[in-house]
Amino acid sequence: MTPERSKAARDLLRFYTEAGVDTAVGEQVNDWLSPPVEPVASPAPVAERALLRTVDTRIAAPSAKMAVPPPSPDAAVMEAREAARSAQSLDALRDILGGFDGCGLKASASRLVFADGTAPARLMFVGEAPGAEEDKQGLPFVGRSGQLLDRMLKAIGLDRSKVYIANIVPWRPPGNRTPTPVETQICLPFIQRQIELCDPDILVTVGQPSTGALLGIQGITKNRGRWFPYHTGSREIRAMPMLHPAYLLRTPIAKRQAWRDMLAIKKALG
Ligand code: URA
Repeated sequence: MTPERSKAARDLLRFYTEAGVDTAVGEQVNDWLSPPVEPVASPAPVAERALLRTVDTRIAAPSAKMAVPPPSPDAAVMEAREAARSAQSLDALRDILGGFDGCGLKASASRLVFADGTAPARLMFVGEAPGAEEDKQGLPFVGRSGQLLDRMLKAIGLDRSKVYIANIVPWRPPGNRTPTPVETQICLPFIQRQIELCDPDILVTVGQPSTGALLGIQGITKNRGRWFPYHTGSREIRAMPMLHPAYLLRTPIAKRQAWRDMLAIKKALG
């Protein structure tokens, strides 16, 4: 390669990395925007194909092993609901999720990040999605945000052996981007079943994405520290939205509010 071409390649890679495209998922480029070369036996309706393309290109470049496009989002949500419902224990749910191919995030993540802590637990935290460190270790909240969460737990006399921690989405989105609404909807039945099987008395939704997905509430700064009912499927429990530790790291002044919320959680645990 000439020095000019080598520099151009380096510049292009730097551009990709800065844009958040930091994960190679296959050796070959798949052009999902062009019509299929060979007619498929039973092509999806035009509208569904258009939606698929929109979704797929936003999720990640599919890997070579994913020669067949994933199911449509609606089909994936239905499959997720059935699969999640069939799990009779958290271990079974982990296995089922590990074998579930309906969410495109699985293709670019290194591993499944299912949960940490102990179940059943009286207190359960649900965050948004794993980051780089979580993807490496296979455990939720082990990066900088997680270390702050650990300190917050310690401040009220708790640690990971007494709580259960999971995320709405169990695979790291490439470049740590926010999961798309479609990815969230596909993963939702699994985290809902995970909450039901963990059976906490108190659910803490960590950050806006988790609060929106589980409680249907927008506006984390307005609603943090307030109690909302949450139906696990078996019973009604109390849920509280909490500011995300990543936000607290960027906005130290908000730690005062988070401290108040942690005290309210401690009081509710009795
Ligand atoms: N942020 C989250 O929401 N979850 C994690 O597991 C890590 C960071």
